[in-house]
Amino acid sequence: MIEVSGLSKLYGSFSAVRDLSFSVRPGEVLGLVGPNGAGKTSTLRCLAGIIPASGGSIRVARHDLATNPVEAKRALAFFPDEPRLFDYLTVRQHLAFVAKIYRVPDHEQIAGPLLEELELSEKVNELPGALSRGMKQKLAIACGLLHSPAVMFFDEPLTGLDPLGIRRMKDSILRRAREGATIVLSSHLLHLLEEVCSHVLILKRGVKIAHGTIAEVAAQFGSAEGAVNLEDVFIRATGGTED
Ligand SMILES: Nc1ncnc2c1ncn2[C@@H]1O[C@H](COP(=O)(O)OP(=O)(O)OP(=O)(O)O)[C@@H](O)[C@H]1O
Ligand SMILES: [Mg+2]
Repeated sequence: MIEVSGLSKLYGSFSAVRDLSFSVRPGEVLGLVGPNGAGKTSTLRCLAGIIPASGGSIRVARHDLATNPVEAKRALAFFPDEPRLFDYLTVRQHLAFVAKIYRVPDHEQIAGPLLEELELSEKVNELPGALSRGMKQKLAIACGLLHSPAVMFFDEPLTGLDPLGIRRMKDSILRRAREGATIVLSSHLLHLLEEVCSHVLILKRGVKIAHGTIAEVAAQFGSAEGAVNLEDVFIRATGGTED
Protein backbone atom coordinates (compact mmCIF):
# COMPACT_ATOMS: atom_id res chain seq x y z
CA MET A 1 0.00 0.00 0.00
CA ILE A 2 1.20 3.47 -0.88
CA GLU A 3 -0.58 6.62 0.26
CA VAL A 4 0.63 9.96 -1.07
CA SER A 5 -0.94 13.18 0.08
CA GLY A 6 -0.10 16.69 -1.13
CA LEU A 7 3.39 15.72 -2.31
CA SER A 8 5.51 18.54 -3.64
CA LYS A 9 9.11 18.68 -4.81
CA LEU A 10 11.07 21.88 -5.27
CA TYR A 11 14.54 22.17 -6.78
CA GLY A 12 15.52 25.61 -5.50
CA SER A 13 12.56 27.73 -6.52
CA PHE A 14 11.56 25.39 -9.39
CA SER A 15 8.47 23.38 -8.66
CA ALA A 16 8.88 19.89 -10.20
CA VAL A 17 5.92 18.20 -8.45
CA ARG A 18 2.89 20.03 -7.08
CA ASP A 19 0.27 18.92 -4.58
CA LEU A 20 0.18 15.31 -5.78
CA SER A 21 -2.15 12.86 -4.02
CA PHE A 22 -2.93 9.25 -4.88
CA SER A 23 -2.87 5.80 -3.38
CA VAL A 24 -2.05 2.38 -4.74
CA ARG A 25 -3.37 -0.80 -3.14
CA PRO A 26 -1.72 -4.22 -2.97
CA GLY A 27 -2.16 -6.02 -6.28
CA GLU A 28 -2.44 -2.78 -8.24
CA VAL A 29 0.07 -1.54 -10.81
CA LEU A 30 0.02 2.21 -11.34
CA GLY A 31 1.57 3.58 -14.53
CA LEU A 32 3.05 7.05 -14.11
CA VAL A 33 3.12 8.77 -17.47
CA GLY A 34 3.78 12.26 -18.75
CA PRO A 35 6.00 14.20 -21.15
CA ASN A 36 9.74 14.59 -20.54
CA GLY A 37 10.25 16.72 -17.46
CA ALA A 38 6.72 16.10 -16.13
CA GLY A 39 8.09 15.02 -12.74
CA LYS A 40 7.88 11.21 -12.92
CA THR A 41 11.43 10.49 -11.77
CA SER A 42 11.22 13.22 -9.11
CA THR A 43 8.01 11.65 -7.79
CA LEU A 44 9.43 8.13 -7.74
CA ARG A 45 12.62 9.28 -6.01
CA CYS A 46 10.57 11.04 -3.33
CA LEU A 47 8.37 7.97 -2.84
CA ALA A 48 11.45 5.80 -2.40
CA GLY A 49 13.10 8.24 0.01
CA ILE A 50 16.07 8.80 -2.34
CA ILE A 51 15.48 12.55 -2.28
CA PRO A 52 13.50 14.46 0.35
CA ALA A 53 10.02 15.69 -0.53
CA SER A 54 9.48 19.43 -0.08
CA GLY A 55 5.97 18.94 1.28
CA GLY A 56 3.17 16.46 1.80
CA SER A 57 3.19 13.00 3.27
CA ILE A 58 4.13 9.55 1.96
CA ARG A 59 3.16 6.26 3.60
CA VAL A 60 4.71 3.04 2.34
CA ALA A 61 3.28 -0.22 3.66
CA ARG A 62 1.64 1.84 6.46
CA HIS A 63 4.97 3.40 7.51
CA ASP A 64 5.37 7.14 7.27
CA LEU A 65 8.47 7.76 5.17
CA ALA A 66 9.39 10.94 7.06
CA THR A 67 8.99 9.65 10.62
CA ASN A 68 9.71 5.95 10.11
CA PRO A 69 12.13 5.87 7.16
CA VAL A 70 13.92 2.62 8.01
CA GLU A 71 10.74 0.53 8.20
CA ALA A 72 9.33 2.22 5.09
CA LYS A 73 12.52 1.63 3.10
CA ARG A 74 12.75 -1.98 4.26
CA ALA A 75 9.34 -2.56 2.65
CA LEU A 76 10.20 -1.00 -0.71
CA ALA A 77 12.52 -1.34 -3.67
CA PHE A 78 13.41 1.41 -6.12
CA PHE A 79 14.64 0.56 -9.59
CA PRO A 80 16.24 3.65 -11.17
CA ASP A 81 16.38 4.29 -14.90
CA GLU A 82 20.19 4.30 -14.73
CA PRO A 83 21.26 1.32 -12.64
CA ARG A 84 23.99 2.15 -10.15
CA LEU A 85 26.27 -0.78 -9.55
CA PHE A 86 29.60 -1.32 -7.79
CA ASP A 87 32.43 -1.52 -10.34
CA TYR A 88 34.46 -3.99 -8.28
CA LEU A 89 31.76 -6.40 -7.13
CA THR A 90 30.78 -9.36 -9.28
CA VAL A 91 27.13 -10.27 -9.90
CA ARG A 92 27.29 -12.82 -7.06
CA GLN A 93 29.00 -10.33 -4.73
CA HIS A 94 26.34 -7.69 -5.46
CA LEU A 95 23.63 -10.06 -4.27
CA ALA A 96 25.63 -11.11 -1.20
CA PHE A 97 26.20 -7.44 -0.32
CA VAL A 98 22.54 -6.49 -0.70
CA ALA A 99 21.52 -9.57 1.32
CA LYS A 100 23.78 -8.38 4.13
CA ILE A 101 22.37 -4.83 4.11
CA TYR A 102 18.75 -6.03 4.11
CA ARG A 103 19.54 -8.96 6.43
CA VAL A 104 18.17 -11.59 4.04
CA PRO A 105 18.98 -15.00 5.54
CA ASP A 106 20.00 -17.84 3.17
CA HIS A 107 19.93 -15.40 0.29
CA GLU A 108 21.35 -17.95 -2.19
CA GLN A 109 17.99 -19.73 -2.17
CA ILE A 110 16.29 -16.57 -3.42
CA ALA A 111 19.18 -15.36 -5.59
CA GLY A 112 19.44 -18.59 -7.61
CA PRO A 113 15.91 -18.53 -9.07
CA LEU A 114 16.09 -14.73 -9.48
CA LEU A 115 19.28 -14.96 -11.53
CA GLU A 116 17.69 -17.74 -13.55
CA GLU A 117 14.55 -15.66 -14.15
CA LEU A 118 16.65 -12.68 -15.22
CA GLU A 119 18.99 -14.82 -17.34
CA LEU A 120 22.08 -13.85 -15.40
CA SER A 121 23.09 -17.31 -14.15
CA GLU A 122 25.98 -17.52 -16.59
CA LYS A 123 27.34 -14.17 -15.47
CA VAL A 124 27.57 -14.67 -11.70
CA ASN A 125 31.33 -14.17 -11.63
CA GLU A 126 31.43 -11.15 -13.96
CA LEU A 127 31.99 -7.53 -12.94
CA PRO A 128 29.47 -4.92 -14.19
CA GLY A 129 32.02 -3.76 -16.77
CA ALA A 130 31.60 -7.10 -18.53
CA LEU A 131 27.79 -6.88 -18.65
CA SER A 132 25.65 -5.38 -21.41
CA ARG A 133 23.36 -2.43 -20.58
CA GLY A 134 20.31 -4.66 -20.30
CA MET A 135 22.19 -7.14 -18.11
CA LYS A 136 23.25 -4.32 -15.76
CA GLN A 137 19.60 -3.33 -15.53
CA LYS A 138 18.68 -6.94 -14.75
CA LEU A 139 21.37 -7.15 -12.04
CA ALA A 140 19.96 -4.00 -10.42
CA ILE A 141 16.51 -5.62 -10.57
CA ALA A 142 17.81 -8.84 -8.99
CA CYS A 143 19.39 -6.78 -6.18
CA GLY A 144 16.13 -4.89 -5.62
CA LEU A 145 13.97 -8.01 -5.52
CA LEU A 146 16.22 -9.95 -3.16
CA HIS A 147 14.51 -8.75 0.02
CA SER A 148 11.04 -9.54 -1.41
CA PRO A 149 9.73 -5.96 -1.19
CA ALA A 150 5.99 -5.39 -0.77
CA VAL A 151 6.19 -2.09 -2.64
CA MET A 152 8.14 -1.52 -5.86
CA PHE A 153 8.94 1.64 -7.78
CA PHE A 154 10.27 1.21 -11.31
CA ASP A 155 11.57 4.14 -13.36
CA GLU A 156 11.47 3.15 -17.04
CA PRO A 157 11.88 -0.60 -16.37
CA LEU A 158 11.44 -1.68 -19.98
CA THR A 159 13.87 0.68 -21.67
CA GLY A 160 16.99 -1.10 -22.86
CA LEU A 161 15.60 -4.62 -22.62
CA ASP A 162 15.33 -6.89 -25.65
CA PRO A 163 11.85 -8.09 -26.75
CA LEU A 164 12.08 -11.29 -24.73
CA GLY A 165 13.44 -9.29 -21.78
CA ILE A 166 10.46 -6.91 -22.04
CA ARG A 167 8.02 -9.79 -22.05
CA ARG A 168 9.72 -11.42 -19.06
CA MET A 169 9.80 -8.11 -17.20
CA LYS A 170 6.09 -7.55 -17.86
CA ASP A 171 5.28 -11.09 -16.70
CA SER A 172 7.43 -10.65 -13.64
CA ILE A 173 5.73 -7.35 -12.70
CA LEU A 174 2.27 -8.88 -13.22
CA ARG A 175 3.16 -11.98 -11.21
CA ARG A 176 4.40 -9.89 -8.29
CA ALA A 177 1.26 -7.78 -8.39
CA ARG A 178 -0.87 -10.96 -8.35
CA GLU A 179 1.13 -12.11 -5.34
CA GLY A 180 0.10 -8.89 -3.58
CA ALA A 181 2.87 -6.41 -4.34
CA THR A 182 2.05 -2.72 -4.76
CA ILE A 183 3.75 -1.34 -7.87
CA VAL A 184 4.31 2.07 -9.44
CA LEU A 185 6.18 2.35 -12.70
CA SER A 186 6.97 5.09 -15.15
CA SER A 187 7.33 4.52 -18.86
CA HIS A 188 6.96 6.19 -22.22
CA LEU A 189 6.14 2.81 -23.80
CA LEU A 190 2.41 3.31 -23.54
CA HIS A 191 1.31 0.23 -25.46
CA LEU A 192 3.32 -1.88 -23.01
CA LEU A 193 1.94 -0.02 -20.02
CA GLU A 194 -1.57 -0.91 -21.15
CA GLU A 195 -0.71 -4.57 -20.74
CA VAL A 196 0.78 -4.21 -17.27
CA CYS A 197 -1.03 -1.41 -15.45
CA SER A 198 -4.37 -1.55 -13.70
CA HIS A 199 -4.30 2.22 -13.17
CA VAL A 200 -2.65 5.20 -14.78
CA LEU A 201 -1.73 8.66 -13.52
CA ILE A 202 -0.89 11.36 -16.05
CA LEU A 203 1.43 14.15 -14.92
CA LYS A 204 2.05 17.36 -16.79
CA ARG A 205 4.52 19.96 -15.49
CA GLY A 206 4.35 18.37 -12.06
CA VAL A 207 0.56 18.42 -11.84
CA LYS A 208 -1.79 15.42 -11.90
CA ILE A 209 -4.14 15.85 -14.83
CA ALA A 210 -5.76 12.42 -14.88
CA HIS A 211 -5.87 9.38 -12.60
CA GLY A 212 -7.92 6.21 -12.58
CA THR A 213 -8.20 2.81 -14.17
CA ILE A 214 -7.11 2.77 -17.79
CA ALA A 215 -10.80 2.56 -18.77
CA GLU A 216 -11.68 5.59 -16.60
CA VAL A 217 -8.88 7.73 -17.97
CA ALA A 218 -9.70 6.59 -21.51
CA ALA A 219 -13.35 7.57 -20.98
CA GLN A 220 -12.20 11.00 -19.82
CA PHE A 221 -9.78 11.64 -22.68
CA GLY A 222 -10.69 9.03 -25.30
CA SER A 223 -11.55 10.04 -28.82
CA ALA A 224 -15.10 10.83 -29.86
CA GLU A 225 -15.04 7.72 -32.06
CA GLY A 226 -14.52 5.67 -28.94
CA ALA A 227 -11.07 4.44 -29.96
CA VAL A 228 -9.23 4.04 -26.71
CA ASN A 229 -5.56 3.46 -26.59
CA LEU A 230 -3.30 5.02 -24.04
CA GLU A 231 -1.26 6.84 -26.68
CA ASP A 232 -4.34 8.74 -27.93
CA VAL A 233 -5.33 9.45 -24.35
CA PHE A 234 -1.82 10.69 -23.53
CA ILE A 235 -1.70 13.05 -26.50
CA ARG A 236 -5.16 14.41 -25.82
CA ALA A 237 -4.51 14.79 -22.10
CA THR A 238 -1.09 16.41 -22.31
CA GLY A 239 -1.72 18.39 -25.50
CA GLY A 240 1.91 18.09 -26.60
CA THR A 241 4.87 19.31 -24.57
CA GLU A 242 5.05 22.92 -25.70
CA ASP A 243 1.93 24.53 -24.27
N1 LIG B 1 18.37 17.63 -9.50
C1 LIG B 1 17.64 18.52 -10.14
N2 LIG B 1 17.86 19.84 -10.01
C2 LIG B 1 17.09 20.76 -10.64
N3 LIG B 1 16.03 20.45 -11.41
C3 LIG B 1 15.76 19.17 -11.58
C4 LIG B 1 16.53 18.12 -10.96
N4 LIG B 1 16.00 16.92 -11.30
C5 LIG B 1 14.95 17.21 -12.10
N5 LIG B 1 14.79 18.53 -12.27
C6 LIG B 1 13.75 19.20 -13.05
O1 LIG B 1 12.49 18.75 -12.58
C7 LIG B 1 11.60 18.52 -13.67
C8 LIG B 1 11.09 17.10 -13.61
O2 LIG B 1 12.17 16.23 -13.90
P1 LIG B 1 11.98 14.65 -13.83
O3 LIG B 1 13.32 14.03 -14.04
O4 LIG B 1 11.25 14.32 -12.59
O5 LIG B 1 11.03 14.40 -15.10
P2 LIG B 1 10.53 13.05 -15.79
O6 LIG B 1 9.05 13.13 -15.86
O7 LIG B 1 11.13 11.90 -15.11
O8 LIG B 1 11.10 13.22 -17.27
P3 LIG B 1 11.64 12.11 -18.33
O9 LIG B 1 10.43 11.58 -19.03
O10 LIG B 1 12.49 12.91 -19.26
O11 LIG B 1 12.40 11.07 -17.57
C9 LIG B 1 12.37 18.89 -14.94
O12 LIG B 1 12.02 20.21 -15.32
C10 LIG B 1 13.82 18.81 -14.52
O13 LIG B 1 14.63 19.70 -15.25
MG1 LIG C 1 12.43 10.38 -15.71
